[in-house]
Amino acid sequence: MNAPPVLSLAQAAQIIARGQLLAFPTETVYGLGADASQDAAVAQIFAAKGRPADHPLIVHVANAKAITHFARQVPEFAQRLIDAFWPGPLTVILPRLAGVATACAGGQDSIGLRCPSHPMAQALLEQCAALGVHGVAAPSANKFGKVSPTSAAHVRSEFGLELAVLDGGACEVGIESTIVDCTRGAPVLLRPGVLTREQIEGAMGRTLLLPDDLVGAQDAPLSEPAPRASGTLASHYAPRATLRLMDAKSLQTAVELLGADAKNIAVYARTPVHTRSSALIVRRMPDGAAATAQQLFAVLRDFDAQGVRLIWVENVPQDTAWDGVRDRLQRAAAH
Ligand code: TXA
Ligand code: MG
Repeated sequence: MNAPPVLSLAQAAQIIARGQLLAFPTETVYGLGADASQDAAVAQIFAAKGRPADHPLIVHVANAKAITHFARQVPEFAQRLIDAFWPGPLTVILPRLAGVATACAGGQDSIGLRCPSHPMAQALLEQCAALGVHGVAAPSANKFGKVSPTSAAHVRSEFGLELAVLDGGACEVGIESTIVDCTRGAPVLLRPGVLTREQIEGAMGRTLLLPDDLVGAQDAPLSEPAPRASGTLASHYAPRATLRLMDAKSLQTAVELLGADAKNIAVYARTPVHTRSSALIVRRMPDGAAATAQQLFAVLRDFDAQGVRLIWVENVPQDTAWDGVRDRLQRAAAH
């Protein structure tokens, strides 16, 4: 196979400024980026991903100062989140300045902003800003509905060698950013990530609501329908194989019932599994939530690559540190 070309950061920033697509690493997952202010460039993202036009894109910025290019207003609780977690794996949805980054908005009058901490993403966004690009729109660099990529190789396996990719190695966080909607007068969690509820509430000094808390709420600003977020569809993040979540005991029983014939079945569990089958693929889940998040999508992609049809996953612990991983597994299982 031909080795993919190695891009310099300057070349990468020029690709974005020219209105072309570039995949780049962030600490969460790889993004498929384009200049947020060039409608034709943003349209290419939707086309390449096969993403429905009404699913808005997150815009990545080099620092908090860039917010003023995109957002009309920053509520105090949103400012506290930004102060506490940027740069890092947090996206805030803010009221959008009229007429800016319209192509990214999917019809919403809001905008999702995130300042990533990955050094290569930081350097890229700074070089882009120097070329007059204030924000880089970037969804995860995968086809719509698929597992997000956490390495440059994952991105290339989906989009081929034609797509320009900045290779920053394996992503450290491994699951997508936490998304907090800050447009409704109260903070609403649209997608859990690796930040815990306690961390988020601690930074804001107030309660973090869930979209369900808004149903039938008396409060006018909270009674609007929740904004669309593709990451909140029940069956997002699906591997090709069928994924089932089980407690450790049921998982062991299921493995015993298989006997020696366990072709195309994989197990991902913290509790050791005893099997008579040499065909069963067993992958140990780490004890910690952060380590599990870091490898989760790579493990699912690896099972797919091995032709696995059934993935049995041990339920994760109940504590809030696992909320992000639990969310991705439940969505993958809902497919
Ligand atoms: O970690 C991440 O967030 C990664 C990296 C590349 O930054 N990006 C990512 O983007 O996961 P994407 O497009 O795969 O997921 C973004 C989610 C989608 O569910 C989208 O609908 C939602 O954020 N979103 C973006 N803008 C929004 C808005 N204005 N209102 C509501 N939801 C929004
Ligand atoms: Mg995505």
